[in-house]
Amino acid sequence: MIGTGYVGLVTGTCFAESGNEVVCLDVDASKVQRLRNGEIPIYEPGLEELVTRNAAAGRLQFTTSYEQAVTGARCIFICVGTPQDEDGAADLAYVRSAAEQMAPWLSENAVVVCKSTVPVGTNRQVREWISALTQTVFHSASNPEFLKEGAAIEDFTRPDRVVVGVDTDYAAETLRELYAPFLRTEKPYLVVGIESAEMIKYVANCLLATKISFINEMANICEKVGADINDVRRGIGHDSRIGFAFLFPGAGYGGSCFPKDVRAMASVAERHGGNARILRMVDETNNQQKQVLFQKLRDYFGDSLRQRTIAIWGLAFKPRTDDVREAPAITLIENLLAAGCSLRVHDPVAGQNIRRIFGDRLHYCAHHYDTCEGADAVCILTEWNEFRNPDFEVLRHHLKSPVIFDGRNLFDPHKMAARRFHYAGIGLAPLHVISPDN
Ligand SMILES: NC(=O)c1ccc[n+]([C@@H]2O[C@H](COP(=O)([O-])OP(=O)(O)OC[C@H]3O[C@@H](n4cnc5c(N)ncnc54)[C@H](O)[C@@H]3O)[C@@H](O)[C@H]2O)c1
Repeated sequence: MIGTGYVGLVTGTCFAESGNEVVCLDVDASKVQRLRNGEIPIYEPGLEELVTRNAAAGRLQFTTSYEQAVTGARCIFICVGTPQDEDGAADLAYVRSAAEQMAPWLSENAVVVCKSTVPVGTNRQVREWISALTQTVFHSASNPEFLKEGAAIEDFTRPDRVVVGVDTDYAAETLRELYAPFLRTEKPYLVVGIESAEMIKYVANCLLATKISFINEMANICEKVGADINDVRRGIGHDSRIGFAFLFPGAGYGGSCFPKDVRAMASVAERHGGNARILRMVDETNNQQKQVLFQKLRDYFGDSLRQRTIAIWGLAFKPRTDDVREAPAITLIENLLAAGCSLRVHDPVAGQNIRRIFGDRLHYCAHHYDTCEGADAVCILTEWNEFRNPDFEVLRHHLKSPVIFDGRNLFDPHKMAARRFHYAGIGLAPLHVISPDN
């Protein structure tokens, strides 16, 4: 595995768990050292136990040496990051560096697999970068990864499908053998062309992002016309052509994939003379959606917002991960700090990552109830399970006023009105209105 982040570490560990010998390489020497010491650098449920077991059995090793990782390997997976460059396209510098550094150590007939999400044409480019540095015969494959952070082990070991893009039977069969233990329930192993495999990953992420931006726009319209998005969602979701998945309105999508993949796909389309009107609007709609909670707070408190203390529940871009990349919480925190608010924040696992960005400008609380101490309102940004059934009397006791702005629509607005909370969700107007005291 070249690159030992969310994808490389999970993939490597799951392959080790099925009996393969795996070497995980990273350029980040401190990450490698921590892994060697048995420390897991990311939060991912179930991962620690698997890493510990396979490392102890000698099937899973960690290194910074390309010579050690690549020499004798039958498959080399490129799992490095592909962040966006300043124009919104995918930055392939890490992929190129991985390709060039592995080249001298490749074995005859090795399969070089690109698991990083990369634009169409990148696998062919990787082949050229490597071939410029070695005469060794090798095979190329594109193997997009569909795991979700927070459920990565489950997704990897029980995939809905495995997609490989290849141009040799040898590469297709080598990867089929590697994935066979995870496909025993007859889930499909799809062999397609390299370009199609590269497209599949982007098309999947772009469609999911589009669904989210679509329902967010509908939620905003619901608020304006006095409709309830939850009722609307139920009304459409029972239509078997529509369904319920990915149609939950919220404070905008974040993470390391959707935002950059939507922009990268748009950039690919435009570079090839196509247009990407839908994708550009999905991105813009999402950027605006990340502002919605702040606008609600500003509308509610008016000029007095600057002297308010706001509690924030949830900092990660979604539950069961400590990943805060492009998280809506970051946008809200930046806006509230700029408006002069004091912020009391809590996340079950992502506090440290937010501290790296905001340092001592926030008050970090050990429990979500603690954030409410003396706060004028609570904002909910991540739908962690432990936020779903709070003791509302405890909240009322700690808060200056029972006011909740919920970016994840966790509670029933009618019950919140009965509890005499001012409760504003996304696509839900408050049913019990409490005016802010001045
Ligand atoms: N995170 C996800 O949920 C997810 C899901 C599917 C696909 N992907 C895609 O997989 C790729 C990796 O994502 P991630 O979230 O694991 O990223 P990450 O940032 O967590 O990990 C990438 C790792 O690669 C290392 N690295 C960078 N350059 C290197 C080099 N030249 N040699 C060796 N190591 C190098 C970095 O130090 C880092 O540890 C991206 O293209 C991403 O879009 C991510």
